[in-house]
Amino acid sequence: MGGAAIDLCGDPLPLGTFALCRRADAVLLGAVGGPRWDRPGAVRPEQGLLTLRRRLGVFANLRPIRLHGALVDSSPLRPERIAGVDMVFVRELTGGLYFGRKRRVQRRDGTERASEVCAYTTTEIERVVHVAAALARTRRGRLTSVDKANVLETSRLWREVTTRVVRAEFPDVRLDHRLVDACAMQLITTPADFDVIVTENLFGDILSDEAAVLAGSIGVLPSASLRIVAGAVTTGLYEPIHGAAPDIAGKDAANPVGAILSAALLLHHSLGLADEARAIEDAVTEALDQGLRTADIARPGERVVGTREMGERIVDLVVSRAPSRSRKSA
Ligand code: IPM
Ligand code: MG
Repeated sequence: MGGAAIDLCGDPLPLGTFALCRRADAVLLGAVGGPRWDRPGAVRPEQGLLTLRRRLGVFANLRPIRLHGALVDSSPLRPERIAGVDMVFVRELTGGLYFGRKRRVQRRDGTERASEVCAYTTTEIERVVHVAAALARTRRGRLTSVDKANVLETSRLWREVTTRVVRAEFPDVRLDHRLVDACAMQLITTPADFDVIVTENLFGDILSDEAAVLAGSIGVLPSASLRIVAGAVTTGLYEPIHGAAPDIAGKDAANPVGAILSAALLLHHSLGLADEARAIEDAVTEALDQGLRTADIARPGERVVGTREMGERIVDLVVSRAPSRSRKSA
C-alpha cells in the first residue's frame, strides 16, 4: 500500500492488499507518504491509509504517551514539568472532517472555494467514548473529553453524548471537558494531570503530535486502531504515530521503537498475548536504560546507534529474557 502501490498500480490501497488485511486478525503498518507523491491533484499514499482505517472500521485509535525515565532529558521541556507523564489518547478515527464530503469549486470571478464537512452521529460518539471510559476505569479513573463546544455544533453533540454515556454507564469515572485550545496549552503546562483523553479525529491528530514532545520523541510512540464490538477487539491496525520521515529514508537513522512498540500492542490487543507484549515493552525500556540512542533521542555527545542496531539489541533483550523453551524457537 501507499507510495509503492501507487507506483505499481496507481492505487494506494489495491484490492488485493485490502483483501489480505481484511482476512488478517491484525495489520502492522509502516508509515506512508513522501514528497515523491506530493503532486497537486494526484492520488496520495495517505488516502490508502484513510481508506484502510475506514474500511476496517477501526474507530478507536489508542495513542499511549508515557515518558520513559531514561528519556527525561531528551524532551525540550523541563524534567519537573514532565515528571509522571502517563496518558492515553483515544482518538476517534473514522469520522469528522477526514471523511466528510470535500469540494473544490471554481467561482465565476476566477477564485476557488474549497470546503469539507465535519459530521458526527450519536452512535459514532457513543462507541468511542465507551472505549475511552472503560480504559479510564482500568487506569487512574480520569477521562478528559476535548472539543470546541463554544463554536462547533459537532462539538456540542460530542459533549452532550459524552456526558450522558459516562453518567449512565461509568459513574465511577471522573469526566471533565476541555476546549481544544485550552487543552493544547495544558498539555504543556500540566501534562501529568491527564489520564485518558477522548476526542474527535482532527483534534486527536494534532494534540497527539503535540503530546509526543512530552515523551522525548515522536519516534518512540506506538498506536493501536481498534474496531471493538460488544467489548471485544474484532480488528486491529497498528502503526507508529510518526510519519514516513522521507528526509532520513534509507539512512539507517530512524528510531524503530515506535514500530516495535506497535507490534507489542498488536500482540496484546489482537492476539491476547499479554506476557509476550510485556516482554517486548520491557526490552525496549531496558535498551533505553542501557543508553541506546537513535539520533532523534540522543543528546549532544552521546553515542548514536542506527535503526538496525537498535532493533537488533532490542531483539537480543527479548530473547535473553524469554524462558528457555521459547528461547530455542526464537
Ligand atoms: C496520523 C497521521 C495521519 C492522520 C496521516 C498520515 C493521514 O498524521 O496517523 O496521525 O492524519 O491521521
Ligand atoms: Mg498525525
